[in-house]
Amino acid sequence: MDRRSAKGVNQGVAPVTYGTGDRPPRGDYAKARADYTCEQDWAQYSEADHDTYRRLYARQLQQLPGRACDEFVRAVQQLGAPERIPRFDEVSERLMKATGWQVVGVPGLIPEEAFFALLAARRFPVTDWIRKPEEFDYVVEPDVFHDLFGHVPLLFDPVFADYMQAYGAGGLKASRLDACELLARLYWYTVEFGLIRTPAGLRAYGAGILSSAGELRYSVESPEPRRVAFDLKRLMRSRYRIDTFQATYFVIDSFDQLFEATAPDFTPIYAEVRETIASSGEIEAGAVLPGERQFSVTPLPA
Ligand SMILES: [Fe+2]
Repeated sequence: MDRRSAKGVNQGVAPVTYGTGDRPPRGDYAKARADYTCEQDWAQYSEADHDTYRRLYARQLQQLPGRACDEFVRAVQQLGAPERIPRFDEVSERLMKATGWQVVGVPGLIPEEAFFALLAARRFPVTDWIRKPEEFDYVVEPDVFHDLFGHVPLLFDPVFADYMQAYGAGGLKASRLDACELLARLYWYTVEFGLIRTPAGLRAYGAGILSSAGELRYSVESPEPRRVAFDLKRLMRSRYRIDTFQATYFVIDSFDQLFEATAPDFTPIYAEVRETIASSGEIEAGAVLPGERQFSVTPLPA
């Protein structure tokens, strides 16, 4: 679930789920352990691979000011030198000291249960391969750039790091409650495409936005999409777009708010959301409910 995106735009992730596509997931699964993790064979990266990473990093970095949240901007340098694909063990060493998280290699998309189990153990799975140069603007499955650049910096933030672990634990429970689709919406609208309100204006914290050259600017500057306040039950009723930039973004006030709003037992929440969907339907991407407040944006100078 969780690691998807939009064709034709460069979010670096795609609408595919392990085991449900019409072809096997990309990557060498023969080398994976039972928990789907694998060693990062750093020596096998070519100069072209490092160059792709360097160019992707440089393109995103210059777009961050005024668009990415401060926590992300501060932590991105913890990934190490931007010229080479980072060594996962070196990033893990810094991350472990900061929040007790580790980065672990995976061959690509992994099954939901394995994904949740890793998050619950504070281990973030990062795809070990990088897109080909001809996939610079669009890659079907998440690669090392999306996973590392998009997701890992915020794992240096203590509150967000706890949120991610709680999400993994919640995922294991949702699997038993057959509620993964509702929970996937939470991941999508926060971890992948979340916006946060700051005194300086709206900023992105979602990895799908932060690893996308086009959506970073669009999400915080375009007048087109709807931006509504984070509301867990409203969010779980909301469909999302996988074929283009998002039509709706949910805005949090703080990572504390996000953590606290998602701390309660979801069992009764799933039941209530299912009832509301049965009576009033799902909410289409881009729809705004009567009386719902929207956040306005001010474009940065080009
Ligand atoms: Fe992702």
